[in-house]
Amino acid sequence: MYHNLRNLMKKYTFELLQNYKKYSANEMLLQSHIFYEAIKTRRSVRDFSDKQVAEDVIINCIKAAGTAPSGANLQPWHFVIIKDSQIKKEIRIAAELEEKEFYNGRAPKEWLAALAPLGTNEHKQFLETAPYLIAIFSKSFDVLEDGSQQKNYYAAESTGIACGFLINALHHSGLASLTHTPSPMNFLNKILNRPNNERPFLLLVTGYAADGVKVPVIKKKSIEDITTII
Ligand SMILES: Cc1cc2nc3c(=O)[nH]c(=O)nc-3n(C[C@H](O)[C@H](O)[C@H](O)COP(=O)(O)O)c2cc1C
Repeated sequence: MYHNLRNLMKKYTFELLQNYKKYSANEMLLQSHIFYEAIKTRRSVRDFSDKQVAEDVIINCIKAAGTAPSGANLQPWHFVIIKDSQIKKEIRIAAELEEKEFYNGRAPKEWLAALAPLGTNEHKQFLETAPYLIAIFSKSFDVLEDGSQQKNYYAAESTGIACGFLINALHHSGLASLTHTPSPMNFLNKILNRPNNERPFLLLVTGYAADGVKVPVIKKKSIEDITTII
């Protein structure tokens, strides 16, 4: 499949840009405002309902992630949707083992201090409660049909952007999510039977937020703090 994809790309053909919306200046301002108002309501949630979510919703969100830009369009990502309760349990056990060590000695003091306002700890009940875990893998190279390896460019940047699309799509669909990175998380390759050219990138937990869920009081930096206009 990858072989074909790469051969196709050698062809150098162009087509007219489809469905490009050319807004008036006012409409553009309005649209940017509407998007900001919607995305700013996203928060990481650490307590999920076990209420089921249609698999097609998750598939659509991953389709959205798959439209992300990527270095040389090599799409160096793989998404594993985990809904099986036994596999979720295995992931929870492995993640909690790592997290226990992290919170009780492995993490530098400064890191623990940065995490303190979030009230997180080694207990990861949500890994079993949420209806879906999505493990995202990033591939620094692909293995082609003939067994040879082909390098991917900007694999981490590309996968990060795809994850941004995915988080945005889940939020837009009315699902809560948590970006989770048990450290280290190579246990995911073993549990999910993924090849070693795939590096676990993020574990995204998603579903309905639990009723009455609370989130830490945090602040986002101001536009002045994060922007320079020259
Ligand atoms: C790369 C990355 C890794 C993260 N890892 C964890 C994690 O392992 N556990 C956790 O509870 N939250 C994790 N988070 C969530 C952050 O703590 C959260 O995004 C941050 O506190 C801001 O809160 P908000 O998402 O509600 O805006 C992670 C977020 C990112 C982007």
